[in-house]
Amino acid sequence: MSVTLPTFTPLEEGLFLTLYARALDNRRPHPILGDATADQIVRTTDYDYGQLKVDTNLVLSVALRAKKLDQVASEFLARHPDAVGLDLGAGLDTRFERLAPPPTVDWYDVDFPAVAAARQRLIPEHPNAHVIGADVTDPDWLDAVPSDRPAIIVADGLMGFLTQDELVSLWNRLVSHFPSGEIVLNSYTRFAIWIAHHARGTKSVADLVKFPGMDDPREPEGWNPKLKLVREIVLSREPEVAEFPAGWRRFHRLVAHSTALSRIGTIVLHYRF
Ligand SMILES: C[S@@+](CC[C@H](N)C(=O)[O-])C[C@H]1O[C@@H](n2cnc3c(N)ncnc32)[C@H](O)[C@@H]1O
Repeated sequence: MSVTLPTFTPLEEGLFLTLYARALDNRRPHPILGDATADQIVRTTDYDYGQLKVDTNLVLSVALRAKKLDQVASEFLARHPDAVGLDLGAGLDTRFERLAPPPTVDWYDVDFPAVAAARQRLIPEHPNAHVIGADVTDPDWLDAVPSDRPAIIVADGLMGFLTQDELVSLWNRLVSHFPSGEIVLNSYTRFAIWIAHHARGTKSVADLVKFPGMDDPREPEGWNPKLKLVREIVLSREPEVAEFPAGWRRFHRLVAHSTALSRIGTIVLHYRF
């Protein structure tokens, strides 16, 4: 059965790029993330994925960053089985399904109302997985999320679409809402943002990018005194690079010698508060 979704705004439509990249990763002989549900959603939705022109590098980096975000979330949930989890700008990602947290965890996927409605049509319901249809820059949506439990907050592919001020305000609201928690996201340097504006694979979302880029991973420590950088995960140095096709494996092993060069691609930043 093919599902026809309503027309999304260009900002919402960015979700198809990452969804399709995860589906293509799943079709590789040695997937990095192996998200069969993403593939299933792509196969059942009536959307012209071919026009996205997703290249191998985008597939690998989307899959690897999702895997690293999952790992941080999974380790947090193992230490805090009473936690709440948030996926900000969740799109049609099925992170809750990949993480399979214990029933004591409540998970909240947040995205614009039209995307939230599409999630409810496409992704099987689970009593602990909640969907919030809201603009993350709106201060009110957090009222629906318990404030007395530790939180793991994931933002996969969202940061680029917020201004610096929107991002700082959002993080300050999150830090003051929860007693403690961790934030993990994929981030971009200023140069990576420049590339996003010019590369073929990201052309469909480039005009929507508002974030100027962040060169110093410690910068958020200055946004709120409770925020501390746990780790910058340099993707080119992660073991999954061994599964990349030969050309990309050589490229990543080469740039892995230099943090500055590695940061030209996707970086994953992990904070606690
Ligand atoms: C590139 S997609 C990534 C989606 C998903 N995280 C994934 O990895 O497939 C960016 C998502 O952020 C959402 N988004 C962008 N700005 C947002 C905002 N201000 N509030 C809520 N969602 C937002 C878009 O609707 C879209 O679903």
